[in-house]
Amino acid sequence: MSWTDYRSAPAPGTVICPQDQVQGVQALTVETEKGKFPLLLAATDQGIRAYVNACPHQYLPLNYRGDQMLSADGTNLMCTAHGARFDIHSGQVVEGADCDLDPVPVRVEGAMLVIGQP
Ligand code: FES
Repeated sequence: MSWTDYRSAPAPGTVICPQDQVQGVQALTVETEKGKFPLLLAATDQGIRAYVNACPHQYLPLNYRGDQMLSADGTNLMCTAHGARFDIHSGQVVEGADCDLDPVPVRVEGAMLVIGQP
């Protein structure tokens, strides 16, 4: 399932948050007239990565049991529900699920992080 298949998928250009507020790994909700869209943001050494905050194991949010979603070595996102792990840069599954996280394109406009083009 692609992020654009969600009824609540925000339109390109939708403001997510100020860019400088993105630190570490955080879950947030982008709310538009289309509804609430669950987003996961990760500040990495290669820039900000964004994914739908839905673990493909049982489609729970990765922060289901808390906010510790970054592996100790900083390379993996971890689902707090049952421990699935995903590459922080690509969203590709490392273990614990059958498929990858859904990447969401984002870009910086001025000081703000916004949804990019699908
Ligand atoms: S829902 Fe994420 S590991 Fe089970």
